[in-house]
Amino acid sequence: MIRLRDVQKCYPLGERQVIACEVAQLEIADGEQVALIGRSGTGKTTLLHILAGILRPDRGEVEVAGARLDRLGESARDRHRGRHIGMVYQTFNLLQPFTALENVLLGALFGRGAGHAARERAETLLQQVGLGERLHHRPNELSVGQVQRVAICRALVNDPELILMDEPLGNQDRATGEQVLDLLLQMAAQDGKTVVMVTHDPASAARMQRTVDLATLRSSA
Ligand SMILES: Nc1ncnc2c1ncn2[C@@H]1O[C@H](COP(=O)(O)OP(=O)(O)OP(=O)(O)O)[C@@H](O)[C@H]1O
Ligand SMILES: [Mg+2]
Repeated sequence: MIRLRDVQKCYPLGERQVIACEVAQLEIADGEQVALIGRSGTGKTTLLHILAGILRPDRGEVEVAGARLDRLGESARDRHRGRHIGMVYQTFNLLQPFTALENVLLGALFGRGAGHAARERAETLLQQVGLGERLHHRPNELSVGQVQRVAICRALVNDPELILMDEPLGNQDRATGEQVLDLLLQMAAQDGKTVVMVTHDPASAARMQRTVDLATLRSSA
């Protein structure tokens, strides 16, 4: 369950404050699959980072997977993210010195542990997204679309109950994008995982159960 009330995150711009993200009210039920849309700069990434506990809002209530993230400090939010949340960043954030497989296992290190079972799961996930032949390639030896798929596997390796994805399919050809989204939504539906996916692609948004436009969440809307 995700529940937000009167959330606002601002950044200073000279003397002024710029509102990066404003949400009067938002509720997402467990197991729901939601597309998050909105024009560039409306705060989609900021909202995902608030849901992940990477950012703390300046004000408002943020309840995610049983925790009031607005009340937790940074290390408690980090632990909560490791246990409950898989995140695919808009900029992927893979670590360059490590291979595809190692990058996925690094995700496990911050979650359920990077033991033998995690390694098997990491390899299976990479095979499922078509990277079985690329396990030992480093990010600079992969295409952008392949890097994006490694980032998706890293988000899934801990079997999280909440998957947050920031335009995860932006660099895929349509067939690959559909294949990866199929896999994601199928896995999510099987285990009742909640999915929040930022997308600019109407076809991808249409595959989700609900579409939320960030512009409609502001209190002035
Ligand atoms: N660290 C920061 N410092 C100052 N302003 C910021 C910072 N991060 C984001 N912003 C501002 O907050 C607003 C929302 O940014 P955000 O990245 O959440 O938008 P977005 O909806 O994800 O856009 P896009 O579709 O281009 O990815 C933007 O106007 C941006 O300039
Ligand atoms: Mg963004």
